[in-house]
Amino acid sequence: QRPGHVSVVILGGTGDLAKKYLWQGFFQLYASQASSANTFSFYGGGLSPADSAKPVFFEILKAVSCPKDLSQERCAVLKEQFLRLSQYRQLKTLEDYQGLAKHVEQQLQEEGMTEAGRLFYLSVPAFAYADIAEKINSSCRPAGGAWLRVVLEKPFGHDLPSAQALAAQLGTALKDEEMYRIDHYLGKQVVSRILPFRKENKDSLDPIWNKHHIERIEIVLKETLDVKGRIPFYDQYGVIRDVLQNHLTEVLMLLTMTPPVNVSSIQEVQQNKLEIFSSLLPLGKNQAVIGQYQAYKAEVQKELNKTQDHVSLTPTFAAVLAHVADARYEGVPILLTSGKMLDERVGYARILFKNDIFCLQSQDSVHCKPKQIVFHFGHGSLQYPAILVSKNLFKPVQTDAGWKEVTEHANVSVLGLPLSDYYVQTPKVQREAYAELISHIFAGCKNNFISTENLLASWSLWTPLLSSLKGSFPRVYPGGADNGGMLDVQLKGNEISFNSKVVIISPDQVGR
Ligand code: BG6
Repeated sequence: QRPGHVSVVILGGTGDLAKKYLWQGFFQLYASQASSANTFSFYGGGLSPADSAKPVFFEILKAVSCPKDLSQERCAVLKEQFLRLSQYRQLKTLEDYQGLAKHVEQQLQEEGMTEAGRLFYLSVPAFAYADIAEKINSSCRPAGGAWLRVVLEKPFGHDLPSAQALAAQLGTALKDEEMYRIDHYLGKQVVSRILPFRKENKDSLDPIWNKHHIERIEIVLKETLDVKGRIPFYDQYGVIRDVLQNHLTEVLMLLTMTPPVNVSSIQEVQQNKLEIFSSLLPLGKNQAVIGQYQAYKAEVQKELNKTQDHVSLTPTFAAVLAHVADARYEGVPILLTSGKMLDERVGYARILFKNDIFCLQSQDSVHCKPKQIVFHFGHGSLQYPAILVSKNLFKPVQTDAGWKEVTEHANVSVLGLPLSDYYVQTPKVQREAYAELISHIFAGCKNNFISTENLLASWSLWTPLLSSLKGSFPRVYPGGADNGGMLDVQLKGNEISFNSKVVIISPDQVGR
């Protein structure tokens, strides 16, 4: 893309997400571009008037931290420049957006620069998207071949019809190539290494990456936090819409899709994903178990001003059994699990391979250790992101210069195996998912974003399950250290159920 002036606007510029990740990501982008031919201006936008929001805005900007590869001195200089290039603007009415466009044009004239593009990051509730997109379309489009990119945060609808309606509404204001629907899991370093890893290790994986050798695939996100403070949002969505429909489904796609011949071909990546969506067996009530942590009920009553007898059926835990019905994976159980207030914070995808008959019959635990590949997103006993391949499988090749092999083995065990039983690869420098994806947006690379077809295919999968669970009581679980058992579900053919280890608090609230 041609160099020039880039305007970055974050709507919801003083909100939680902007504070925690977005300004940090844009500062990192600025730092990486500071000696390029591009120039920048940054706008924090919001509904509050500038007088009240400005101090909060600059506090957030001042708090961004320095990327590890920068010296303190250089970082201080860049931070000062970043603050000078930034301003808060109230963006509420059409006139506010017109005022913004005028300001950008003045800026271009003053600098005597050509314009590279305008990036709008919508970190606002989804109900505001259509209206904002329309205002951007009517008053903030750049002229003369500069790009417009509009970044959208989930939720993109709450079921298939609402996602279709939102996509259609946005489609009247923005072109498909201008929309960047973000799923921050696709920016996690380990997640974005899944396809390259599968390609690099094709020779070792091809013979075993199929139903004859894979025992089970597990995609897990366990969290220890509750959802206090987020109930008005969370109670309408629940864990399935919050993380399974998007983050865990995207990981499932990367694990099961045919790796594209050209990983940077957006058409091929999207096409191969859609093929898997079309091979997934429909999900119904028998393919899911749901739970709710005990304190949730009182949190709902408090935050939604409900009476003591109000019961919410929103699940905070779900385990779902999926199957890809194609020649390669037919019959392989794929378990997607996530929950709040569980016993530990960890995210991973595990491919567990079948052990040979000799191992199944003998109790030889020394030679018959689990054969598995673990894509470890972070946290857990290991604490850092890594790809682990058990040594009884194969030695993975290592071609990405940004990754290194871990050879020193602390006294840690990951999913039943000590670290010394794995080949371990980890990123040389850890990067936040948002910073990673912001750099992709800037480069105009859409591979790691959710296309409209991808989004609708995912909702087509999840909507029937959500409808069939309507009215079901989730099992109530205590929350905290006792909840390791929640993951201990039973799989029977195409059905899933809780097993007896799961602590049930009130038997009268048992769903399935
Ligand atoms: C978000 C969900 O999308 O992902 C949160 O809304 C969840 O409820 C979070 O906690 C998990 O992301 P991470 O990166 O912390 O694993």
